[in-house]
Amino acid sequence: MTKKFQSIKGFYDVLPERQKFWRFFEGKILALLDQYYYEEIGLPIVEETALFEKSVGSHTDIVEKEMYSWEDKLNENRLTLRPEGTAGCVRALIQNNLAYNGPIKLFYRGPMFRHENVQKGRQRQFNQFGVEAFGLPSFYVDAEQIIFLNRLWAELGLKNITLELNSIGDSEDRVIYKKKLVDYFKKNQNLLDADALKRIETNPLRILDSKNPKMQDLLSKAPKIIDYLSKDAKDHFDGLCALLSENNISYKINNRLVRGLDYYNRTVFEWITKDLGSQGAVAGGGRYDLLVENLGGSKTFACGFGIGIERIILLLEGNPSLINANPDIYIINLGDKAKVFAFSVSEALRESGLKVALNMDESSFKSQMKKADKSNAELAIIIGDDEVEKQVVQVKFIRSTGSQETILNSDLIKFMNNHFI
Ligand code: HAM
Repeated sequence: MTKKFQSIKGFYDVLPERQKFWRFFEGKILALLDQYYYEEIGLPIVEETALFEKSVGSHTDIVEKEMYSWEDKLNENRLTLRPEGTAGCVRALIQNNLAYNGPIKLFYRGPMFRHENVQKGRQRQFNQFGVEAFGLPSFYVDAEQIIFLNRLWAELGLKNITLELNSIGDSEDRVIYKKKLVDYFKKNQNLLDADALKRIETNPLRILDSKNPKMQDLLSKAPKIIDYLSKDAKDHFDGLCALLSENNISYKINNRLVRGLDYYNRTVFEWITKDLGSQGAVAGGGRYDLLVENLGGSKTFACGFGIGIERIILLLEGNPSLINANPDIYIINLGDKAKVFAFSVSEALRESGLKVALNMDESSFKSQMKKADKSNAELAIIIGDDEVEKQVVQVKFIRSTGSQETILNSDLIKFMNNHFI
């Protein structure tokens, strides 16, 4: 028997039903990105493996376990399917000298790849919108990005997404803090699981993020980074918190929020929902003021975030009434002359900005009516050869009263525009 191929585990087709939600999301976020003056950059999906080792960090789950990497023997290079977008964006910023004329705000979209355990909301190929602001040191940028996301949730009609916030200080603060934390973990070594024991030397901050129920008590009593911030880092965080409060943004300070990527400093944040089970983070980000320099550029302040598109789509699918992908009008037509006329009416209505579905088969009136109903259009226009003769159409209010009106052809566009605007 011929083999029927299946997509690879963790890699999915986006079927038309889902694509509708995707387009709704993209429409909303693109309009907002314009409002906040972010410019789009297109980035390659493949980068050198070393780029991620140096930015995301060699001792992170992403680099240690999750990257799709291979040896490009022709060019003697190690390559990787990007697991995230910030590293490539910074590489492009440096390579193309994009910060030469001062601050620049960029966004990108597309697939990312992580070889993770697959579950609801967690895929091996997933899509992000990434948003990055370069060259701006003040906490106003951090606040603007957080408020951007708050506005996005409102635009999408999504509720139940809450903000968690922390500061992980500057690198000098973290040197002191890490020592305290390692001392604390070493004193309590018998309470650590194998993963945590491994991380004591390599990445002790990540232990704070552990979900192991047996370690929660120990972790809740661990020293808090917020108590080890320098004055500048503390002022930055306090300024951000005050600005968010002034703008009516609620947040919870989560002292154990450290993020899974090593490039961050100062502000880190995540927007979380309880509606997706354990994969609740729909967006995450923060400051990374050292990354551009660490990758060979000149000192450039930076702050950004990534949104997980599939997780947003799952939330939208739970609430399908939020999106309106229906036509405004469904045109029913019967007879040869009617068909020709209906075609030109549909074009004229589209020209005036309306969404129009035109019946194009030979089916009966009853069957066309059923299709009009199924399309969820608000109005149906009915055209028979009789109507063509009299220079009129019938307009039926199929979503509301069910009543029908005869409208002169010459008045149709005006009638529709009055109705829909
Ligand atoms: P991240 O937190 O690793 O950050 O990913 C951002 C978002 O991508 C997550 O909040 C989640 O919604 C989504 N996501 C991550 N992994 C998966 C997965 N396996 N399946 C489905 N969705 C997933 C970053 O990637 C940073 N580059 C964000 C950033 C930009 N920080 C500064 N600038």
